Amino acid sequence: MPEDLAQKILTADWETLAKMAEDCRCCAMASTRQHVVFAQGAPGPKLVVIGEAPGAEEDLQGLPFVGKSGQLLTAMLDALNIVRGRDAVVLNVLKCRPPRNRNPEPAEITCCGHWLRRQLELLAPDVLFLVGRFAIEAVLHPGEGFSIGRMRGRVHDAEVAGRRIPAVATYHPSYLLRSPDEKAKAWEDLVLLRHVMTEAGIALAPREKRWN
Ligand code: URA
Repeated sequence: MPEDLAQKILTADWETLAKMAEDCRCCAMASTRQHVVFAQGAPGPKLVVIGEAPGAEEDLQGLPFVGKSGQLLTAMLDALNIVRGRDAVVLNVLKCRPPRNRNPEPAEITCCGHWLRRQLELLAPDVLFLVGRFAIEAVLHPGEGFSIGRMRGRVHDAEVAGRRIPAVATYHPSYLLRSPDEKAKAWEDLVLLRHVMTEAGIALAPREKRWN
């Protein structure tokens, strides 16, 4: 990341940051992406959901979590009556799609860390929901060899822009699609998230009746 760009990121507002990210050429993904996938939502909601990286569908549409795993994430949030963009901002550790959906590389995570840090500063979340290994690593820095199985199911103390806020971690929806037996644990994590949001004073809209 060129130093002058890194400096500009530090003071950019949300709209400026999104525009600047569109031109990012910090890593090689700049030449393979269709779109930079900045976020869904804008400062306002106090819940922020962080995933890993855009996939093929996200790259095409320029929006996070719109493919198969996005449908599952949407359903998971819907179980708490959380509407993406309205009640939660959704974003990823990486803003561009890694070719062939390979794992993010350390240099890419470092590049995108500039965008992510400023996003979190501007969003000033009160609660984080971390889906998958890379989101957990980027925010909680658990150290090598950690397992999601040991990180999920409890509340973490995350440091975000100088504030300490609660974070709930769970499995990535793409893993849940491959391992449906683990969905019960993700459900427990959603119940925990609901509790943490209530504790943090984030009101959940009551669900309207859907059965008549
Ligand atoms: N997986 C992610 O982690 N993020 C997306 O946006 C899509 C799939």
